Amino acid sequence: MTKNTLSITDNRTGQTYEIPIEHDTINAMDLRQIKVNPGDFGMMSYDPAFKNTASTKSTITYIDGGKGILRYRGYPIEQLAEKSNYLEVAYLILFGELPTKAQYDQWEYDILHHTFVHENIKQLMHVFRHDAHPMGMFIATVAAMSTFYPEGRDIMNEAERLKQIQRLIAKVPTVAAFSYRHSRGLPYVYPDNDLSYTGNFLNMLDKMTEVKYKPNPVLERALDVLFILHADHEQNCGTAAMRVIGSSHTDPYTAMAGAAAALYGPLHGGANEAVLRMLLEIGDVKHVPEFIKGVKNRERLLMGFGHRVYKNYDPRAKIIKQIADQVFAETGRNPLLDIALELERIALEDDFFVQRNLYPNVDFYSGIIYQAMRFPIAMFPVLFAIPRTVGWLAQWVEMLKDPDQKIARPRQIYLGPDVRDYVPMEARG
Ligand code: SDX
Repeated sequence: MTKNTLSITDNRTGQTYEIPIEHDTINAMDLRQIKVNPGDFGMMSYDPAFKNTASTKSTITYIDGGKGILRYRGYPIEQLAEKSNYLEVAYLILFGELPTKAQYDQWEYDILHHTFVHENIKQLMHVFRHDAHPMGMFIATVAAMSTFYPEGRDIMNEAERLKQIQRLIAKVPTVAAFSYRHSRGLPYVYPDNDLSYTGNFLNMLDKMTEVKYKPNPVLERALDVLFILHADHEQNCGTAAMRVIGSSHTDPYTAMAGAAAALYGPLHGGANEAVLRMLLEIGDVKHVPEFIKGVKNRERLLMGFGHRVYKNYDPRAKIIKQIADQVFAETGRNPLLDIALELERIALEDDFFVQRNLYPNVDFYSGIIYQAMRFPIAMFPVLFAIPRTVGWLAQWVEMLKDPDQKIARPRQIYLGPDVRDYVPMEARG
């Protein structure tokens, strides 16, 4: 009868250990029994960047990187993108089930009636430089929101938690839109709760002198689908930051500011901005071969390609490519698409990329759509952070409720100097 264990023999001592296997994984703490001397600390595993370390058990999002599969609570991303909307997907990600009509109507009402921010928040945003990066404004303002809702520190109170979660999901489009209007030197536009979640976001971005803003339904739907695609992605860098910061039991606004800060990096959610700047730099399809040569010479990365988990085409990139046609029918075709398609064509054929499983990821095509919708490039990471808010919050709640979890505190392998005495200044070489 096969045993569900790993037999490890420590050849330093000849001792053998039986380590239980659960979910095709061993518990790292079971390694600590492996010692040479009884007083030893015991064995650890070394895994910089957590390439092969499960930090949690989760029931929220499933990714199969080899097959290019993404599911939220078991529902394939392709079906949700086609049949659902962002607020419904947010409910699913948070509560684990698709809402009934009554549940959805209440959820939508609750979210759409928390869209205003305190006037002091608006005044606070006014002090940023006129050319402040919207993502910097977004991160700072989300952190500042913790000072407006001190009750958010009562994180073990389910009702309080839900109130802060609804506030964050409802207010991030307002904060994002305010940061956009600030960067354009335009007056901020207040929410219009007659509109949908995404329609209201477009209203706060674009409304000028018209009495009632009417969102373009094609662009409203395209952006809503993009929000669905960006809602959660299991233990990515930003979510890991949310969990690590949240594990110290700080409030959700402070933890989310840290998650958004991690997302901002060009290797993560800031890649959509970096992709657009890369395409603009390439400028023309005829420059693509030269650019690819630079990538293969390790002079730079092909932004929007590659993924720690997907070693196949990112399913979200496939859907985004389909949305592009619908958006361009309204906005006119973005000529940068030709450069992107040529980069993809070469990358999918060239051994350098094929051997490294480098496929387009979610950030490769999203920026081309955002630019066609007239978003400034600097807004792109903010457009990622808005929908990812629900993912961060769902993962944060799961972490708080998980009996296995404690404050996150990784170990290290110390390779520094051994003990030594202080040397007075005059005796230093
Ligand atoms: C997101 O984790 C998530 O789920 C994130 C995300 C989410 O929804 O939260 O999906 C969103 O962040 C998508 C990724 C966006 N980032 C980019 O597009 C930036 C460009 N991509 C790379 O920086 C990179 O591919 C990462 C960061 C995405 C993944 O890096 P890994 O897993 O650490 O892979 P690696 O750096 O070990 O690369 C393996 C090899 C290396 O070559 P060798 O040293 O083995 O010869 O592939 C090369 C890398 O140099 N490589 C690239 C490359 N990505 C990896 N070479 C050129 N261009 C690239 N984009």
